[in-house]
Amino acid sequence: MATTRKKILVQRYVEGMEKPELQEFELEATAEMTVLDALNAIKDTQDGSLTFRWSCRMALCGSCSAVVNGKPVLMCETSLKKLPDTVRVEPLRNFPIIKDLVVDIDDAFEKMRSVNPYLDRMEARVENKHLQSPAQRKRIAQSSQCIKCMICYSACPVYKVGENFMGPAAGALAYRYIAESRNKKKRRQLNAATGKKGVWGCSFVGECSTACPKRVDPAMALQRLKVMGALNLPKRLLDKE
Ligand code: SF4
Ligand code: FES
Repeated sequence: MATTRKKILVQRYVEGMEKPELQEFELEATAEMTVLDALNAIKDTQDGSLTFRWSCRMALCGSCSAVVNGKPVLMCETSLKKLPDTVRVEPLRNFPIIKDLVVDIDDAFEKMRSVNPYLDRMEARVENKHLQSPAQRKRIAQSSQCIKCMICYSACPVYKVGENFMGPAAGALAYRYIAESRNKKKRRQLNAATGKKGVWGCSFVGECSTACPKRVDPAMALQRLKVMGALNLPKRLLDKE
């Protein structure tokens, strides 16, 4: 089987180090190898302490995100053969590093939770009550594709500095539930997304949508929410929320 020699530079960090350092590995890469395969091969044969997250290996679980040659990507769908002979792998930006390529994403998850991302199913279920038409499903199809990979948070220049900004995926998630035909209590999501800690920090740079591996388009969701928030403002003022 034909192989190509690749130099893989991986950012390493363990608690107590002054700053992260790059470690160099060499690898005979086959044509089918992804960046994730390369890291697993290194872990199996060269350095068992190398630490990174992954699970599905099919761009579904969202856990193998990292910055590869400067771009935040899913490592399991990034083919090594399309990359230059030297490949640099770093953790997602904008998150604290726990170890090597593993980052602490609690803040982003907390922001997603803050938009109440669920349907209120307290009403008694009756036959066919929760059906959707194809057109209704289409409205939420794009924003439902999110796999919580946090790549958009890593690409966003505002998230790290804008402490009150909810971030791209939380906006896409809020939009998904507000645009949802079966949701009869959309005010919860709208108020959360357009409150002080909501969408307003977004300056529509659009890097989140460019980087998103599932084409969710969080940037557009955030702009739609801004319009909805502006239209909802008189109601909020009357409610003294
Ligand atoms: S919106 Fe896209 S980039 Fe952001 S978490 Fe969801 S799938 Fe990942
Ligand atoms: S391993 Fe699940 S998305 Fe890459």
